[in-house]
Amino acid sequence: MKADLLVHSAAQLITAPAGGKPLLGPDLDRPVLIQDAAIAVVGERIEAIGTSKEILAAYPERDVARVVDARGRMVAPGFVDPHTHLPFAGMREMEFDARARGESYESIAAKGGGIRASVRHLESIDEAALADRVTARLGTLLRQGITTVEAKSGYGLSSAGEMKQLRALRAAQPRSPVEIVPTFLGAHAIPEDYQDRRTAYVELLTREMIPEVAKAGLARFCDVWCDRGIYTVEESRAILLAGKAHGLLPKLHADELGDAGAAALAAEVDAVSADHLLFASDPGLAAMAEKGVVGVLLPGTAFTLGLPYARARWMVEHGLAVAIATDFNPGSTMSSSMSLALTLAVTQMKLSPAEAWMAATANAACAIGEGSRLGRIQPGFQADFCLFDCSDYRHIPYHYGQEHLHAVVKRGHVVVEGVEAWTCT
Ligand code: NIG
Ligand code: FE
Repeated sequence: MKADLLVHSAAQLITAPAGGKPLLGPDLDRPVLIQDAAIAVVGERIEAIGTSKEILAAYPERDVARVVDARGRMVAPGFVDPHTHLPFAGMREMEFDARARGESYESIAAKGGGIRASVRHLESIDEAALADRVTARLGTLLRQGITTVEAKSGYGLSSAGEMKQLRALRAAQPRSPVEIVPTFLGAHAIPEDYQDRRTAYVELLTREMIPEVAKAGLARFCDVWCDRGIYTVEESRAILLAGKAHGLLPKLHADELGDAGAAALAAEVDAVSADHLLFASDPGLAAMAEKGVVGVLLPGTAFTLGLPYARARWMVEHGLAVAIATDFNPGSTMSSSMSLALTLAVTQMKLSPAEAWMAATANAACAIGEGSRLGRIQPGFQADFCLFDCSDYRHIPYHYGQEHLHAVVKRGHVVVEGVEAWTCT
């Protein structure tokens, strides 16, 4: 048989089994592992996986356009990062410093820092310059093994500002192989000039901004930060239902600072995911599990802010689908490293390395509604995978603080290759 790309002699391949649904409970810890593995790709899709012997017998090298000898490296699905705030403009090191001196995330925000600082930064940059920054960041993400990234607006908090962020994402897309899944997060905070008239901002969101974003086809999801001191359950419900009415699927920043009932709201509105969940209640999480809402874990945020980690083990044991994301943003998590997120998920949340990998690939794809197309190295799936300079998938979360990426295949094309290996021995 013919193939466009054939990768062989990988020491190990890790992937979720065939299927498109999130891995739940004990299945999260049961990846498919193939030793001396190979992958055949036709066009943009995976055609077959197996041992090198099997695949080379079925696809003779003379019938393959490009053959890659993995030389004993490990192959895994490209990371899907299902939660970032990628189109941001400025840095907030001062807040990092202030937190080290005892200030909290909330007290910094109350003084006009936090999200409002990022809103001011965004005002000072135009769309083209923002698109350049997004493009540069996508380059970094790719070299970290991320092949798909969800990216939220939420630093505009005005029609023009939110549109600027979403348009910058659209402008950056053709300049990078990393696939961007855009989310409208106009309800990230209450803008300064609406502090005393919150209802007016919720009406602006539901009546003007959401219809405008949907009409322009600039977002797939509508997100709300439903939390203690941020948006109430009632406000969030109104915004998410308006989004839904315009074809934007619901997502939530949920119960990050306190138990605000956001997890239960996620279940009620059939959200695709509810993210953070540090303080989510047992009944709220159980309701999410019942409705099949994916719980997105953001260990880097708890790590940065010194907050308690979300109860990942409880979630897995109660049948909730869990995914892992970075939350890459200039305030609460200035890291785009999925590898580091894996390390924190293992060491702090007590996921096994296999569970963390599945949560960052197959389940992460489900958290953006792409579970049947992305996140697995299985026949029919988009050919998005990475070669790492190690022979065991556990090496990635175990050997933290440096990258191990060697090559990336996106949509069947080798888009990164021959990254110089750091010694692992
Ligand atoms: O996911 N929780 C809300 N939003 C971000 C923080 C955004 C910021 O501080 O700029 C988060 O942690
Ligand atoms: Fe976030």
